[in-house]
Amino acid sequence: MSKYIAAIDQGTTSTRCILFNHQGHIVSVGQKEHEQIYPKPGWVEHDPTEIWKNTLEVIAIARIKASATAADIAAIGITNQRETTVVWNKRTGKPYYNALVWQDTRTSDLVSKYEKEGGLNQFRDITGLPVSTYFSSLKLKWLLENVEGLREDAEKGEAIFGNIDTFLIWHLTGGAHGDGGIHVTDVTNASRTQLMNLRTLQWDREMLAAYNIPEKMLPAIKSSSEIYGHVNNEILPGVPVAGDLGDQHAALVGQTCFEPGMAKNTYGTGCFLVMNTGNELKTSENGLLTTISYKFGNEPVKYALEGSVAVTGALVQWVRDNLGLIKKSEDIEELARSVEDNGGAYFVPAFSGLYAPYWRNDARGIIAGLTRYVNKGHIARAVLEATAYQTVDVVKAMEQDSGIELASLRVDGGMVMNQLLMQFQSDILDTQVVCPAVAETTALGAAYAAGLAVGYWQNLEELKQKWAIAQTWNPNMEAEKREGFYNGWKKAVTKSYGWME
Ligand code: G3P
Repeated sequence: MSKYIAAIDQGTTSTRCILFNHQGHIVSVGQKEHEQIYPKPGWVEHDPTEIWKNTLEVIAIARIKASATAADIAAIGITNQRETTVVWNKRTGKPYYNALVWQDTRTSDLVSKYEKEGGLNQFRDITGLPVSTYFSSLKLKWLLENVEGLREDAEKGEAIFGNIDTFLIWHLTGGAHGDGGIHVTDVTNASRTQLMNLRTLQWDREMLAAYNIPEKMLPAIKSSSEIYGHVNNEILPGVPVAGDLGDQHAALVGQTCFEPGMAKNTYGTGCFLVMNTGNELKTSENGLLTTISYKFGNEPVKYALEGSVAVTGALVQWVRDNLGLIKKSEDIEELARSVEDNGGAYFVPAFSGLYAPYWRNDARGIIAGLTRYVNKGHIARAVLEATAYQTVDVVKAMEQDSGIELASLRVDGGMVMNQLLMQFQSDILDTQVVCPAVAETTALGAAYAAGLAVGYWQNLEELKQKWAIAQTWNPNMEAEKREGFYNGWKKAVTKSYGWME
């Protein structure tokens, strides 16, 4: 039996390859950051060619560190930043344009147009999603309308679309060489395009017409765990590509949230709280998204509710890169610890508008509550607290939609290293917060999906046994104080509206 499963985690800021062993433990990691391209205010792009190059590099690094040959790897699973939109030529592999990243707001005017014509919620029943700059549909429409020659090529089937999962699988399985790559995606990624019907799990004709998207350019929709094809590249020749999940769905799997009512919150560039709702497709009354948890092979699909927050960790990076208040992201904790509390300051990081539960396309970032007393320590504190308050917003919505009170919150992602944030999160939620021993749940979830498909792991029970707690934070804040802080946040949020009118 091969020794390892490889997971490729292609995120917003970096690409990683992690090799996992049979215990679900990390054996080796390769990681590389890629450039964030900001051509205009609100525009965010990535170079797909750089991402593909980095993917090959990080696989090589992970292999070398573990001294692994292709024969040591039983399968590869892919997980990825969702919604980010790429179009490329199926003969040459050349992208027609940079990837439009999920955070990109260039389609704001299109959102307003759809809002006037039919309302933001006109496609919720079919897709589970509001009209927003966030999803792939409007990004693809923008590309088709603005890149010369693209629509003609798309109609001929020459130009093809994918999220990053599709782009990487296509390249790994042959790309523009040999017989060409396999053009597929999985149900979780497809659910974020706003073009898939949540019930049929197929591209929806009404949605394609609403956004004027040629069906020919779309990938085939598959389950999240099956052999899609084999690597046709010297990096890992012949290894089956057998798992594909959007990163937040992968984290749900890595946290083994397999029962209805189980939820996880991932603290990365943004924050994404996902609750498994089992066989039930629940419509949100409180601004959450209806989406897919996962679909393993021929098993029935499992649905989910999701609260997506656009900017959390990205705010710490912004304070580092654009203000120069800290040198390294980790330094934010020490700066925040230099003061007792936020000193009355609140930071609403609505850089991409506000996502769940507000869906305010017109919101932009603000710092509120400033007095002469406030110093950079208070700002650091407000930066971290913004992540916690935004999580409270989505937890409250989740509890109302699901009727389930969260007894404890499973967390993961880069920001869980921050002790101050995690304690404040527990305090402000008044709920226990729990981090698992393997905190790389996103990559682990992709590995689990691939491993299940090739029989490396047998079933979900086996995976559940592997989940273990590394750290727990318990709430320790008086109710009055907690309510005071949260009320301040809610007031600040209302001040972020109306900047795009
Ligand atoms: O929906 C966007 C999300 O998938 C991005 O996640 O971790 O790459 O910022 P991350």
